Amino acid sequence: MSTYIIETRDLTKFFGKRNIVYHLNLKVPKGVVYGFLGPNGAGKTTTIKMLTGALRPTYGEIRIFGMEMPQKRVEIMKSLGYMPEAPIAYEDMTIFEFLTYMGRLSGLEKDEARESAKELMRYVGVGRLALNKIKELSSGQKQRVTFAAALIGNPELLILDEPTANLDPLGRIEFTGKIVSLAKEGKTIFVSSHIVSEVEKMCNYVGLINQGRLIAQGRISELTGVEESEYDVLTSDNARALEFLREKPYVRESWEEEGTLRVRVDPRFLDEFFLQFPRYLSSQGIRLKLFKPHTSPLERILMEKFNVGEAE
Ligand SMILES: Nc1ncnc2c1ncn2[C@@H]1O[C@H](COP(=O)(O)OP(=O)(O)OP(=O)(O)O)[C@@H](O)[C@H]1O
Ligand SMILES: [Mg+2]
Repeated sequence: MSTYIIETRDLTKFFGKRNIVYHLNLKVPKGVVYGFLGPNGAGKTTTIKMLTGALRPTYGEIRIFGMEMPQKRVEIMKSLGYMPEAPIAYEDMTIFEFLTYMGRLSGLEKDEARESAKELMRYVGVGRLALNKIKELSSGQKQRVTFAAALIGNPELLILDEPTANLDPLGRIEFTGKIVSLAKEGKTIFVSSHIVSEVEKMCNYVGLINQGRLIAQGRISELTGVEESEYDVLTSDNARALEFLREKPYVRESWEEEGTLRVRVDPRFLDEFFLQFPRYLSSQGIRLKLFKPHTSPLERILMEKFNVGEAE
């Protein structure tokens, strides 16, 4: 019995002679937020369509909740909410009608479906548009409605294909917050994206795909094993902090850039740096306002892995 919510074995898709997805072995444990990250045309949507039964694999196996897809599609879909990349087909329905209809499809009674529709419209921020037709909506509003449709029936697993592509900046922040709280409720979330900062905010797992191949997969904190040696620092007295840093032999370089200190530390002496720097600051009554690696860990993995891919 599989221990993964989603597991694929050698999942492969050809379009004609073109190899679009190649021997993909996805492993998505229960309760994680899995970021499926890769450039345009990498094969994310094709993979997601196979996972949700919208497209048949050329070969390979898919198991979701331990059941085979597409053979057990009807059963799997009862606990799976899918948000496709393409906008909704039912253009002439109102939002309320559409969500009620989706609720009925997911097995809710009529009253339950109407209640959930109302609740979800508020949740995704389209409550005031309830009686507008789908075709009258902006692309971001449609995306909010498709998100609501994925959530109806309270599924255990969410598969979301670029859910934030059309959202405004505030919508994006709200969305990542929602994903984090849905994960806290115990849902498993598989989400495709090419926005690294967003994946970092909401995901704890990641699968990197390039040219149809999975090039790395696992818990983000484990993939980013190596410690960073360049940091951004902001203090209440940067000038004095800089004086301290310049005296330390293990600080290779330190300079100020647009009000932020940049520090490059000899990686062999990171422990000393981490102990002595905050201690010095507090002894001088200097407040530490920000301290973070200059390059985000996930960005670093991406650069490493994708460069390898390109060199092939
Ligand atoms: N029905 C199809 N017939 C032929 N080729 C296709 C078909 N669908 C997708 N492709 C090709 O498969 C490749 C992968 O497409 P896919 O939509 O899976 O990429 P993606 O990773 O989702 O990209 P994006 O980030 O742009 O959404 C592309 O080169 C695309 O041209
Ligand atoms: Mg896509």
